Amino acid sequence: MPIRTRRATAVAHPNIALIKYWGNRDAALRLPANGSISMTLDGLETRTTVAFDPSLEADLVIVDGEHLVGAALHRVTQHLDRVRELAGIPLPARVKSQSNFPAGTGLAGSASAFAALTLAAAHAAGLTLDRPALSRLARLGSGSACRSIYGGFVEWLAGESHEDSYAIPLAPPDHWGLVDTIAIISREPKSVGSTAGHALAPTSPLQATRVQDAPRRLDLCREAIQKRNFPRLASIVEQDSNMMHAVMMTSTPPLLYWEPATVLVMREVAAWRAAGLPVCYTVDAGANVHCLCLADAVEEVRRRLETLPGVLEVLVCGPGGPAEVVESSPTTG
Ligand code: DP6
Repeated sequence: MPIRTRRATAVAHPNIALIKYWGNRDAALRLPANGSISMTLDGLETRTTVAFDPSLEADLVIVDGEHLVGAALHRVTQHLDRVRELAGIPLPARVKSQSNFPAGTGLAGSASAFAALTLAAAHAAGLTLDRPALSRLARLGSGSACRSIYGGFVEWLAGESHEDSYAIPLAPPDHWGLVDTIAIISREPKSVGSTAGHALAPTSPLQATRVQDAPRRLDLCREAIQKRNFPRLASIVEQDSNMMHAVMMTSTPPLLYWEPATVLVMREVAAWRAAGLPVCYTVDAGANVHCLCLADAVEEVRRRLETLPGVLEVLVCGPGGPAEVVESSPTTG
């Protein structure tokens, strides 16, 4: 009996965390120390094709034109193993993935990468999983990927076990015309990746306080989104980003992702808001600054950012849609 599997292609978008995930209570299961909230980003995407192929000896993974080897390949193979185990398919896979933005720069490449890989692999393996199950599975590959399964505004419920740690949609993309105007300050991959960074979080004496205070920040953020209240969103988003970076800077060894231009943009954005422009900043594990603003202010924010020294490029992303399977065809092995 030939084993019937299919080839499937999925597209997923990265997301920007408004309340950040930093540190795990269980690193192997990626059970986060605290819940988080994000907005899925339109315009940026990862497109991934997975085909289970009996003619291969091992998984073959090509990301942005390069064959993955070593630890990066292992991480993908481990994720494919989870899908193979669920589906009972012992076949190696051919994976081809392409993103339209630089990976490893704090633009949340692992979120869109593992969300697209999860969807494409599950579909290719013939699994029928609902969105919560896809979110849980994506979480095992990369924590933030569990949020990219959904579009719009999304909350990752921290949970205490594999079963109850997954993302839920808070509001669809058209709920609020919030725009992420991203000041690109570096296109180089960061020197310490998020996974290694999460492992350092408990070494900071500030992490316990950050985690303990998370329910308050989550409540304020959720409410600001529901009521479309930009000033409230702005103050909690900036505070949350600053708290995460305070933890990073006080870890052992310390992590400092900011470049001088990162600080310049943060200062300018705060001054612009004080003068009435609806814009705030948030920074992930990288040097780039995500400047969130209301749709009416986008052109002004973009124009101002482009004049700042050290800003290489400005990307503009509104709220994006969910991860989707865009192509699938049967293959017979
Ligand atoms: C700063 O999800 O990239 O962007 O689970 O190890 O893949 P892994 O980490 P990752 O961490 C994201 C950290 C962050 C904040 C966030 O997106 O919530």
